[in-house]
Amino acid sequence: MSSEADRKILFLLTGSIACFKACELVSRLAKRGIAVQTVATAGALRFVGAATLEGLTGRTPFTDLYEAGRTMDHIRLARWADLALVCPATANSLNRMAAGLADDVIGALFLAWEIGRKPWLVAPAMNATMWEHPATRAARERLAGFGARLLPVGDGPLACGEQGEGRLLEVDELEKHVLAALETGR
Ligand SMILES: Cc1cc2nc3c(=O)[nH]c(=O)nc-3n(C[C@H](O)[C@H](O)[C@H](O)COP(=O)(O)O)c2cc1C
Repeated sequence: MSSEADRKILFLLTGSIACFKACELVSRLAKRGIAVQTVATAGALRFVGAATLEGLTGRTPFTDLYEAGRTMDHIRLARWADLALVCPATANSLNRMAAGLADDVIGALFLAWEIGRKPWLVAPAMNATMWEHPATRAARERLAGFGARLLPVGDGPLACGEQGEGRLLEVDELEKHVLAALETGR
């Protein structure tokens, strides 16, 4: 069994207020010696800077499918990583992955990922009504059917001031899920 230090994670961030929590997880995983390559949507970059992600990991985040010199990174990174984690996963990103859309960094990597052979974890974060919306429910079921692993969400006060299900899991819980999935390959 290889050590954590040989492990490679693709850490995909989408446009949620919970990006600040995700940065703490990125930092913890990198400090364990795991190679962490971040990927950020345009939405995620409204919440966290590319410089922060690069500073935490020592790797330039992948943010643009058409970036010169990185035009095949949606394939290369999908082959490189042992595990992918979408964290935080917005309602938009859940619905887009479930629809198989590939016109942004997350969608293209999701379709290029050998789903079922390597873990693709999804840690949702959204308002409770968005979480329970029939479109989001259907997307969750569809993603699980494809072989993605949906992590649970927390229940409690939400950033918008409402209460309910949809909070991003706490960092300790997220870290446990990631380390267990790295260990088992599921
Ligand atoms: C302050 C703020 C906080 C937001 N937080 C969330 C969130 O936690 N979950 C979510 O699904 N969308 C949230 N959104 C909306 C998303 O940013 C928006 O749907 C965006 O299109 C998501 O794009 P992406 O999934 O490509 O990153 C938030 C928007 C704003 C302005």
